[in-house]
Amino acid sequence: MPALEWTEQLENGLARMDDTHREFVDLYNAVAAAAPEDFLAAYDAFLAHAEAHFAEENQWMEAVGFPGCHRAEHDRVLAVLHDIRKRVERGDMFLGRRLIEELPAWFRNHVDGMDAALAFHLNSIGYDVASGALLPRAEGDDAPRSRGCGCAALSAEPAA
Ligand SMILES: [Fe+2]
Ligand SMILES: [Fe+2]
Repeated sequence: MPALEWTEQLENGLARMDDTHREFVDLYNAVAAAAPEDFLAAYDAFLAHAEAHFAEENQWMEAVGFPGCHRAEHDRVLAVLHDIRKRVERGDMFLGRRLIEELPAWFRNHVDGMDAALAFHLNSIGYDVASGALLPRAEGDDAPRSRGCGCAALSAEPAA
């Protein structure tokens, strides 16, 4: 059984984001299941995904002027991922294993909080992530345009 399972609960109703999140789950599970000699290669694939995944969300936020701490959260997690990569490369697996244990909880929290808030906002203003264009809202659609940045505490932080 995979350590992180895709469920409908992780869907945020923005196809491009949901696809990226499925890819996160797959690549995470590949790291979690990797034999020690394959760990770094799997980790690198996961890290490359995380860079692109977070950069894309950051770019959407920039495009629509989305406020809040979401970008800083991405930056913080990337810094942790890079730091742990260096340690693993030196043969110190302890934090690598610990990260693998803690990432699922962080991911569910992040997808359900900050990413959900971003998806909701992009959908409600009619932002088309493929073209970067704002689509006209349907007549009578007066849903709220934002519900904040979805800030939530990150629990998956390895010791310094
Ligand atoms: Fe995301
Ligand atoms: Fe995010």
